[in-house]
Amino acid sequence: MATNRTFTMIKPDAVENGHIGAILEKITSAGFKIVAMKFTQLSKRDAEEFYAIHKERPFFGELVEFMTRGPIVAAVLEKSNAVEDFRTLIGATNPEEAAEGTIRKLYATSIGENAVHGSDSDENAEIEAAFHFAGREIF
Ligand code: CMP
Repeated sequence: MATNRTFTMIKPDAVENGHIGAILEKITSAGFKIVAMKFTQLSKRDAEEFYAIHKERPFFGELVEFMTRGPIVAAVLEKSNAVEDFRTLIGATNPEEAAEGTIRKLYATSIGENAVHGSDSDENAEIEAAFHFAGREIF
């Protein structure tokens, strides 16, 4: 059964380009409630651990470098069917393939620098939220 929480990051490209406010507005307008949020920067070790599943991929080094180059906004979001609905809201990984009106279509610049992260399963949403937040930081 689908749970009601997902995890997101507004990635360094979107932060650098001044899109934090617009992206949060899209998220809350779509009915997601922010139940945890922080402005932070990943260390190399953090990014390598968070993206460990991709470590054999050719873009892994580039991904770690990108995700550590500046601050991110990490958040836990609540809504019914959160994981699936949030992935619909953000659009395809590659912004060229993302549907009109999605966050990646609007704010991402490339497949690597794609503005936002969204968990791909309920299980990963829980793991990723726990990676960034202590229990007392989730409301
Ligand atoms: P996300 O789905 O949030 O998490 C994995 C990330 O790897 C993905 O976003 C992209 O930022 C990055 N990524 C996926 N595919 C590629 C690719 N072909 N080249 C560069 N980066 C990629």
